[in-house]
Amino acid sequence: MDGHVPIMVQAVVRFMERCPEGLIVDGTAGGGGHLRALRAGFPDRPLLAVERDPARAEALAEEFSGDGLTRVHHGSYTGIPGLLDHPASGALFDLGLSSLQLEDPARGFSYRVDGPLDMRYDTGSGDPLSVILESMEEADLADVIYRFGQEGRSRRIAREIISAMPVRTTLELRAAVTRAVAGNPVKVLSRVFQAFRILVNDELGHLDRLLLELHRWLIPGAGVAFITFHSLEDRAVKLLFRDSPFFMETDPPWQVPSREETRKNPRARSARLRTGVRVP
Ligand SMILES: C[S@@+](CC[C@H](N)C(=O)[O-])C[C@H]1O[C@@H](n2cnc3c(N)ncnc32)[C@H](O)[C@@H]1O
Repeated sequence: MDGHVPIMVQAVVRFMERCPEGLIVDGTAGGGGHLRALRAGFPDRPLLAVERDPARAEALAEEFSGDGLTRVHHGSYTGIPGLLDHPASGALFDLGLSSLQLEDPARGFSYRVDGPLDMRYDTGSGDPLSVILESMEEADLADVIYRFGQEGRSRRIAREIISAMPVRTTLELRAAVTRAVAGNPVKVLSRVFQAFRILVNDELGHLDRLLLELHRWLIPGAGVAFITFHSLEDRAVKLLFRDSPFFMETDPPWQVPSREETRKNPRARSARLRTGVRVP
């Protein structure tokens, strides 16, 4: 598949239609698929697009440069409060990585193609995975694979990675993981690569900070939509909408893509759209 196909895009636009007038924030603008749909669906409303990947942010800034109502900012969604003059009336967070990043060998996200073991969303800050691995003990590696990849064979995999050090490319990491497991390694590889991507980008740390601050920059009645791809992030969002005094779940609290959508876009298979409303 070429490019990034946005997930449940009509459901997201319909959800935002129910929200009060005002600014909509796309906190993970990526390939711009949802952003374009929001722009088309709400031609008169201001949009703020935030993206942690500098190349993507630059491409979107250029694409929307003639549009006086769309602002594009490079950075993490944790920085949104500092970008706003007024609270927002809607926000979207489509978590994880885009197909554009996954399919680019130079970014090191995919076990299918050879590339440097990087995995950073923001290529201008922090260390690539190859450097992070050098300073990790076997037990810490196993812990990351178990917690962020939810992979039970974490100790064996960690042992193989340590014995293969230095591991500097995606295919070297794939070979080490494959040696550790019997049978078809595809599922294990996805879990291990997911675990390291979460580690490199401190994804759950950023998400936790976002969830803590979110109520401060939304007006009462504002809608928030999250597209989640694994249970760790989905659970954090679920608990916020269900238990926080600042939010309530919508009815239904979540939706999944149609069979038709997952057939056309296999990446949508693990996606869940979770929605909540900021209460007064
Ligand atoms: C699934 S993609 C979004 C795709 C987008 N909705 C579209 O339709 O093209 C997720 C994007 O979030 C970005 N991202 C990940 N963590 C982020 C963070 N903390 N702040 C801002 N963007 C982030 C990634 O770089 C990636 O481009």
